[in-house]
Amino acid sequence: MGCCGMANSPTGESMTERIVRVLDTFSSDRTVQTAAQIGRRAGLPSSTAHRIVDDLVEAGLLERDDEHRVRLGLRLWELALRGSTALRLRQAALPHMERVQARIREHTQLAVLEQDEALFLERLSHPDAGANITRIAGRLPLHASSSGLVLLAHAPADLRERVLTAPLRAVSPETMTDAAVLRRALAEIRARGFVVAAGSIESVSTGVAVPVRDGGEVVAALSVVLPRETPTGPAVEALLDAARRIEASLRSSRP
Ligand code: PHB
Repeated sequence: MGCCGMANSPTGESMTERIVRVLDTFSSDRTVQTAAQIGRRAGLPSSTAHRIVDDLVEAGLLERDDEHRVRLGLRLWELALRGSTALRLRQAALPHMERVQARIREHTQLAVLEQDEALFLERLSHPDAGANITRIAGRLPLHASSSGLVLLAHAPADLRERVLTAPLRAVSPETMTDAAVLRRALAEIRARGFVVAAGSIESVSTGVAVPVRDGGEVVAALSVVLPRETPTGPAVEALLDAARRIEASLRSSRP
């Protein structure tokens, strides 16, 4: 038993770990669940799952509907955004993403590195824009998406090696799954300052992405998703211009 009244389970897991396991059962495809389903998916005894869910509903971190099912609460979103670096980044980027959007008239995304994946903070879409599987608060693999490739190219060496030595899953037939090919591509991205990833996520689309720096360090990737046959030059130019402006805005808003 740990100190301070943090009752550990028989497996030695802390209360915090169990709460995180409960919250982690929610995904963008599974937004509403019963306490029993949460318990099964989190591998927790039913009584434990019910108690944690009740407490989280009470605290506003989960919300319960009329059918007694729960979803992630708005309070979680409120707390997560409060003072977050992601929010600062998004606010600095948004006006410039809108300009890219107006010029290119396709999808424009902002992504950051999070636990070895690209996490999308924002996405703007044109009504006539082509296919795009990114979602706000959704993730894509680093080695497959254009944003991910930029983030991976500039990631700390240990993270890059971890990704390069793990199995590289094919998202589409054109995803780079050969570590040596990927390694060369990452060096080229660092040298050129952008990536054009044709068909890597979906064969009908090309992702184009550039790095965004804060204090010299790459903190995000700015990207557009184009229909496969669209010329990529204007998108590269618009993204590089926007990244420079976002970087200037981040400089002037440094906390
Ligand atoms: C990309 O970033 O390469 C990308 C993302 C979503 C898509 C297609 C491409 O649907």
